[in-house]
Formats: sequence, structure tokens, C-alpha cells
Amino acid sequence: MTMRIPDRGRPTDDVLASLEAYRQDDVPWRQGRAFGYVFDARHEALDAGKRAYLSFISENGLDPTSFPSLLRLENEVVRMCANHVHGGDRVVGNFTSGGTESILLAMKSARDWARKERPTQGRPQIVAPVTAHAAFHKAAHYLDMEIVTFAVDPVTFRADVEAARAALTDRTVVLVGSAPSYAHGVIDPIPALAALAAERGLWMHVDACMGGVLLPYMERLGESVPPFDFRVEGVWSLSMDLHKYGFCPKGASVVLYRDKGLRRFQLFACVETTGYTIVNAAMQSSKSGGPLAGAWTTMMCMGDEGYLDLTRQMRDATRRYAEGIAAIPGLTVLAPPDMTLIAFASEGFSVFHLADLMKARGWYVQPQLRFAGHVENVHLSVTAANVPHVEAFLADLRACVEEARALPADDSLQSIAEAASHIDPATLDEAAFAQLLAFAGMSGAGVPKESAAINGLLQTLPRPLTRAILLHFVNELFS
Ligand SMILES: Cc1ncc(COP(=O)(O)O)c(C=O)c1O
Repeated sequence: MTMRIPDRGRPTDDVLASLEAYRQDDVPWRQGRAFGYVFDARHEALDAGKRAYLSFISENGLDPTSFPSLLRLENEVVRMCANHVHGGDRVVGNFTSGGTESILLAMKSARDWARKERPTQGRPQIVAPVTAHAAFHKAAHYLDMEIVTFAVDPVTFRADVEAARAALTDRTVVLVGSAPSYAHGVIDPIPALAALAAERGLWMHVDACMGGVLLPYMERLGESVPPFDFRVEGVWSLSMDLHKYGFCPKGASVVLYRDKGLRRFQLFACVETTGYTIVNAAMQSSKSGGPLAGAWTTMMCMGDEGYLDLTRQMRDATRRYAEGIAAIPGLTVLAPPDMTLIAFASEGFSVFHLADLMKARGWYVQPQLRFAGHVENVHLSVTAANVPHVEAFLADLRACVEEARALPADDSLQSIAEAASHIDPATLDEAAFAQLLAFAGMSGAGVPKESAAINGLLQTLPRPLTRAILLHFVNELFS
């Protein structure tokens, strides 16, 4: 591609029009027809948050002493979050760019705490349910740790505490539970996991990236929310995202620790350089003040009442979505939603085709691959923007189920998988990769329009090969 910085700056309107045009194939969130990626509150607080974001976009969070405004905003956001999840005055934390950064930081803290307090022979282990978010795998990858996963109950999809116990070794340093898990939307038995961690002297992290903001409101609405937060003794750290159900502009999460002694392991200072002194609480150095100011402002303008009201609406809509889906022959809701996340599977036709057919009707639903004995399914994160669309969604879903049933069965996957099962990904050359991508419908430039064949193949191939294909695909995509 011969893309260069233009010789002369183009007129602003012209440039902004081009920018707008680039969006045409994006997920249709503005119409309230997307069940992932964008958490849209349809509330005036969002505009306020975006204005604040722009107004603080140039302030730099590199050095909190140079921008006391940002220090104050961060301490206030963290305190609001800590109180929300019932942390006492000793709970501390930091604002981060998202759930992944919060989790990476918590895992780094656990690793470095263990190096000091209970050193392991060999790589320290993170023990997490198989339903834990990929961010824990990424943490292990980045931090030279090992991740060990354990089973969840096959019916409730909640972490199986005995399986967790069996997975612990001398190298385990941290145990993880989710509140709720992304994939199935259910809350792990945090008190039992925390008790197990305490018994073995381990760090316990709760991933409340999805539920940290919403679950306390669900509880106040009278739902029976199992304990998941700092009220549970033995919970040492907790991640909660503000850019999900806090409805703040993206780049907003918080990682919390039971006390400063634990958070100490997160921090980084460098005095061995000729440049300015660096001391960072989180991962980034220079960082825009926009996300933080946007989060603070959104929370202030939304208020407790605003969040409570939205939670009520989303809870009610989630029930209607789940009941409506369960009533469609051939579809099964995998677990009664503990919050606002739904996973459903199909019988007699491909759930991935169903996702593509819904896409063709302007909806975005998220395919999740078969794994570890759990069937492939479709995930919905229900947000406020989806509340008015229950009937329209269900009508299209019913129609798409009929269309999916009418599609001819495709048995080519199994033979491709068999042929591919002998391939060692380490020996694949460019041409072989190109051929595999072509098989999967992932060849050609850009993003594939339909995903059913791709997902079908990805979940059928041996996982090391799937990983290699994905890495190759992304390496090509960004070029
Ligand atoms: C339970 C859970 N944890 C962690 C994450 C990672 O968050 P992020 O995408 O903000 O990095 C997600 C994202 O969906 C999540 O659902």
C-alpha cells in the first residue's frame, strides 16, 4: 500500500467525511442491535463523559505530581469503586486502561508477592476456572507464569471447588474466580474459592470486570447475588471495568487490593536512567487524562439512581431475551443468567450459521467456540441500548433459526480436521498457511464477511494449529 502522510493537509470536513465513511462495516451498535463490544447506556451522562474525555485528552497521567487534577480524579474514582464493592478504608487501587491491564497488574502483584513471601521452584502458577477470561492466559504469557485451568460444573457452569483443589500445586500462587464469567454469565462460588485460597495461603483474585458495577445494584434490586466482593474474607484483589457496565468511555477499569501492602507489588520505579525519574502505579507511562476524566464525569452524572434504574431495565430485558430464546425450538439457554449475559446453543443446525444470518439482518451476536466439553454457542451482553429491541430481535432470531435449519449440512469439516491433525504448526510455511486460510474462508484482503465456516474450522482443528492460524491471520491482517 502506498499510503503516505499527504503532501498538504486536506480540508478538515473532507477528512472527517472520509473518517465517517470508514465506519460503514462496523458493528451496528448505534442502532442498539449489537450485543457486545459497546456498552451503550442511552443516557445523557454519556455525553457529559465524552465531553470530559475531550477536555482532558491532553493532560498526562505520567506524573501525578504534575497534574494534581488527575491524582484527585483517580483517587476519587478508585474510592467510589472500592466503596461500591464493600472495601473498607484500607482497600486501595488504581485506574487502568481496561480489564486486561487490571488483570495483568493483579497477576504481576501476586507473582511478585509470592517471590518474596512464598517462592516457588519453577514458574509460578495461576489456577483459574476454564471459563476465566483469556486475560489470565495473557498474563501468564507476558509474566512468565503458567496457567492451570480447572473444570466448572457441567450444568451450572460455576467453578468446581473440588476441581480447583485438585489443580493446586506447590507452584500455585494465585487462585481466580469470576463474577460473573463472560462466556456463560454466571458467578463462581467466590466464598468457597476464597476459603480454599486462605487454607493454602494463596492470593485470591476476583475478576469482576463484568459484574463489579452491576452486581451490587442487582443485589439492591432484591436479586440473590452470591457474595463476590471484599465482604468475602480471603479476597485479596478484584478487577472491575468502568468501560463495560459502568458505561464510561473506553480505557476505564480499576484494580483494587485489600491493602497497600499488596498493591506495593504492582508499582514500578526506575532511577537507573539519564532521563526523568519514572514511578508508575500502572502499566502505561504517558497516558491521556481523557479516560479518567471521562469515567469520573460519567459516574458523577449517572449517579447511584441512574445506575440502579438502568440495572432494573437491563435485568428485566435480559429475562425477556432469555425466556424468548429458550422458547424457540432448537435453542437452549445454557445457564439462567446471574446478571445480563446470556449464552445459548443450538441443536440440529449450526449456531455459527445462525450468527451469520442474524448479522445479515443487522444484528451482532458473538460466536463462542466449543471447548473443554462445552458446546459452541452464541453470547449476548445485554446493555441499555438493547432494552427496546427484545421483540424485534426474537422475531428475527425465530426466522433465522428456520433459515439455518434449511441450510445443507456440511460434513467437510471433519475430513479437513482429520487431514490437518497430522500437521505440525511449527513446520508450516507461508504457502501452507495460505492454503489453510483459504480452506477456512479467511483468504483475501481484509476482514471476512461470514464467520460460520471459519469458526467451524477453528473449533474442529487441533488447538495448536488453530492458534497458529489465528496468529498468521492477524499478522497478515495488520499489513
Ligand atoms: C470477565 C472479563 N474479564 C476481563 C475482560 C477483559 O477486559 P478488557 O477487554 O477491558 O481488557 C473481559 C472482557 O470482556 C471480561 O468479560
